[in-house]
Amino acid sequence: MIEVKSLTRLYGEVIAVDHISFKAASGEIVGLLGPNGAGKTTTMRMLTGFLPPTSGSAKIGKYDIVEDSMEARRRVGYLPERVPLYQDMTVFGYILFWAQLRQVKAPRDRTVDVLKRFDLLGRRDKLVRQLSKGLRQRLGLAQALVHDPPVIILDEPTIGIDPQQVIEVRQAVRDLRKSHTVLFSTHILSEAEEICDRVVIIDKGRIVAQGTPDALEKQVRANSFTLEVGRLAPERVLEVLRAIPGVASVKRRDAHFSVETDGSRDVRGDISGAIVAAGGELLEMKQVKSSLEDVFLRAVQSAADNPQGQKKS
Ligand SMILES: Nc1ncnc2c1ncn2[C@@H]1O[C@H](COP(=O)(O)OP(=O)(O)OP(=O)(O)O)[C@@H](O)[C@H]1O
Ligand SMILES: [Mg+2]
Repeated sequence: MIEVKSLTRLYGEVIAVDHISFKAASGEIVGLLGPNGAGKTTTMRMLTGFLPPTSGSAKIGKYDIVEDSMEARRRVGYLPERVPLYQDMTVFGYILFWAQLRQVKAPRDRTVDVLKRFDLLGRRDKLVRQLSKGLRQRLGLAQALVHDPPVIILDEPTIGIDPQQVIEVRQAVRDLRKSHTVLFSTHILSEAEEICDRVVIIDKGRIVAQGTPDALEKQVRANSFTLEVGRLAPERVLEVLRAIPGVASVKRRDAHFSVETDGSRDVRGDISGAIVAAGGELLEMKQVKSSLEDVFLRAVQSAADNPQGQKKS
């Protein structure tokens, strides 16, 4: 339903979004997870037709966001990072305004329906300026859904609202699963883990990992070990481990060593073999328990270690 191919956006010299590609299928909630400045908003603004890409392409359904911009936009509901709410409109008037702008059939009935859905009907005559931040966010969601688009793009919908409202907004997003394609950005790992079917992790404009939260965790679990080695000088242990194909990095912590692999192969047999062959003994080998948080930190860290391509040269 959303298909992004090599999408890129420069702001002057800065590459805000750097050749990203991913898909979101119908009925799926895909999380765009990344720290501040990762490129989440820039990606979403391109997908919603607010910002032209520098290169690359994307489709909403079968419509290209540049070639068929109007058709693509018609199929998207967008909750921007900063919702432009018209402060002096009533709750009802605001949604009705959007319903009419988007040429919804029976706009009044539809307005009542979406307000009901987000539990705002009781506040229909309140002015937008009188709403709490959490309620405004719900109003933003109602606005995004008023024309019943198949694709919903939500830019950090839970930022800056109180915990009770966070729970409600997350529930509202989960309720869209199956019936819609949802692209949802966040910098909160547990939120991505809780809500999303698939997660695309971006940092400095690049995709650093993607998959289901489970698969991403497993990937790291299979890839990180701690070892305790006896009868061998630590410098020698480092040397031996670093020579094993598939080992990406080794760090020493007192008598322990932490090993990260590149995921290309199972290196456990080689590790024990190499330690013994060098005259040492392997006292312990433990897989590191991990969470999506580790995936995120690792991915972001390795992007920081390989910063080439961040700036135009
Ligand atoms: N209008 C702009 N002009 C110049 N640079 C910009 C502009 N908008 C964003 N950037 C830069 O592009 C990069 C990506 O920004 P973007 O807002 O897309 O990130 P983000 O992931 O949404 O971050 P946040 O979590 O803070 O919302 C950042 O380096 C940012 O400084
Ligand atoms: Mg943003």
